[in-house]
Amino acid sequence: MTQSIPQAFEPLAIGPLKLRNRFIKAATNEGMCKKGIISKGLAQFHAGIAQGGAALTTVAYCATSLDGRTFVDQAVLNEANVADFRALTDGVHAHGGAVCAQVTHAGCFTFLSHDDLQTSRPLSASGGFNKVGVLSRRFTKKRMTQSDMAAMTEEFVQACVLARESGFDAVELHMGHGYLLSQFVSPLYNKRRDAYGGNIAKRMKFPAEVLSRVLDAVGNDLAVIVKYSITDGVKAGNGIEEGIEVARILERTGAHMAVLSNGMNVESVSGIFGSSLPSEVRKPPENWVIRLGMRMQHMADFKPVTFREMYLLENSKRIREAVRMPLAYLGGVQNVGNVRSALDAGFDAVALGRVLVHDANLIEGWRSGTADASGCTACNHCVTMMYSPAGTACIERMDGASSKAAAQANLIAASA
Ligand SMILES: Cc1cc2nc3c(=O)[nH]c(=O)nc-3n(C[C@H](O)[C@H](O)[C@H](O)COP(=O)(O)O)c2cc1C
Ligand code: SF4
Repeated sequence: MTQSIPQAFEPLAIGPLKLRNRFIKAATNEGMCKKGIISKGLAQFHAGIAQGGAALTTVAYCATSLDGRTFVDQAVLNEANVADFRALTDGVHAHGGAVCAQVTHAGCFTFLSHDDLQTSRPLSASGGFNKVGVLSRRFTKKRMTQSDMAAMTEEFVQACVLARESGFDAVELHMGHGYLLSQFVSPLYNKRRDAYGGNIAKRMKFPAEVLSRVLDAVGNDLAVIVKYSITDGVKAGNGIEEGIEVARILERTGAHMAVLSNGMNVESVSGIFGSSLPSEVRKPPENWVIRLGMRMQHMADFKPVTFREMYLLENSKRIREAVRMPLAYLGGVQNVGNVRSALDAGFDAVALGRVLVHDANLIEGWRSGTADASGCTACNHCVTMMYSPAGTACIERMDGASSKAAAQANLIAASA
């Protein structure tokens, strides 16, 4: 077989960064950070992705602060971690790859306990009842004030400055999936009536201010990428028209590239993955209070969704038509034909999540012409493995009995 997608192996400039080809390893929260320590396993995982041919690998997610975490065992971009992050980025560079830190604050999407979260209530665009807190017993969230927003902007800037110090080549600001910045973008969370709430331009004001300050601080040295949800995946949330407006605002603000995702962690997780989580996880929890809370707040989308390749292509093309900034297509890329159709549709890069968890060497196979379709079945079991002791992995790739045992343990933990 000879290589049939030469255009995918041409270099690409995003801001100050030159990528060796068009393949980006999307953020797939690897875990592997017990008590926040950046493990050798995490460094090896990303070195392996670079060795397998990706131009840019994304480390996810790196919290802007301790309070910015969703779970305790998560990486934080602070001074204490610079040396370990430096070892990770050196490992990627040794294989000719570039490396990106996905920089995120969870806002109210946090499961930190009262002992672990320093603020009394999780921060968000608006206050009131915190449906995510039904699980962590944090039933109310705090509406951010102007001074909270100024401090948060500084927190993002500092995290990105530390990313530069740690040897990262790019930062990816997470404005999607229901984390803090998307809690401003989405009308599901943003009920404000001041300059930061209302129509989509106003809801984007704070995220755009953060982007602008990050660009000022590190944009000459690092590629500044934004990942966002082009729709929230539910009727009451942002639709594609708002997604187009977000892209225009990002372009005007100067983002070097946007990675186009979809959906929200709580309201429409299948919007992110194009398919449902494994049914064991989707089963309602046994505790009736939590079950009732979940039902009442529509915390999970219970309707099974069947995976299809390139599930975000139609909507992503609408974004492509609206802006000229570099865009990465993401969602259900499984084979050489999918890559070709994304590039033919005018996308500058292709971001890959599950297929690289399944096989870090897939891109090298595509380059050499020895591989075509990924063996990933989009079963989403790896999603439930994120906080297992061994971290995110493909259950198809683990050896027999241990994979089933690990998956089962995780499914039980995830549905507890
Ligand atoms: C195990 C796993 C963990 C993920 N963690 C993150 C994350 O931390 N941040 C993020 O933006 N997206 C995360 N995602 C979503 C992926 O980046 C991507 O949007 C999604 O998997 C669709 O792309 P794919 O069809 O190529 O897998 C995760 C996906 C998987 C499978
Ligand atoms: S567990 Fe493996 S096969 Fe299933 S979605 Fe994840 S990477 Fe693909």
